[in-house]
Amino acid sequence: MIDTHCHCLYGVDDASEDIDTSIEMLREAYEDGITKIICTPHSLPGGKYPNDYEALQLPFNQLKKAIQELGIEIDLYLGSETFFSPLTIAWGKAGKLVSLNQTSRILLEFPWYEIDFNFDPLLAIKQMKELGYQIIVAHPERYPFIHKDYSYMKELRALGCHFQVNSTSLMYPEDRNYELAWKIVEDGFVDVIASDAHRPHSKRSIILSGCHKLIMGKYGTEEANRLFIENPQALIDGGELKIK
Ligand SMILES: [Fe+2]
Repeated sequence: MIDTHCHCLYGVDDASEDIDTSIEMLREAYEDGITKIICTPHSLPGGKYPNDYEALQLPFNQLKKAIQELGIEIDLYLGSETFFSPLTIAWGKAGKLVSLNQTSRILLEFPWYEIDFNFDPLLAIKQMKELGYQIIVAHPERYPFIHKDYSYMKELRALGCHFQVNSTSLMYPEDRNYELAWKIVEDGFVDVIASDAHRPHSKRSIILSGCHKLIMGKYGTEEANRLFIENPQALIDGGELKIK
């Protein structure tokens, strides 16, 4: 399996604080059968986590070297979970956005808390597309605007967006996004399932096998492989994603 949304780099966002914690997260992932990971730390242009390539290069290279030496056989790739704001567009124009493994795809996070700018998701996508980016919407099941008006899913899809759902949203019925996450899966909008992991040995670990099994039981091996292996690999390679 391949995890394409994961906060395993240390010291750059609200997840792992040090290299040992990151190694522990990756050890757990390895034991779970995960062989490739795109590291996607938060990138909030002009905000709390102003992560660009320069800021991420050192922890990325050091973590890669450390797990190699420890025999944790996971291929790491660099990306980010880019938060959308007007400054994101400015960063895009300046070539500062960290795409998924240097492809034209951006894992884009929309506001899910109070913000100080007018937010129009469709306009946001159009602006990002004008900059030449293809958009993977990170965890649509978490956004208030999708909860309020589900027709946005269709409109975002019509603009060419792909959708990544969190495995944790599908695994825990007590999660407030559980029902919407499953609706997104049922309706065939989901293109990739990923962990969005933040820490080891917790509900936010880099663990995908449980969710993979659940999807396989409900929809069969082919669908599970599309969501956990084939489309994630296409995100690494910049290839076409299989849409349902
Ligand atoms: Fe995330």
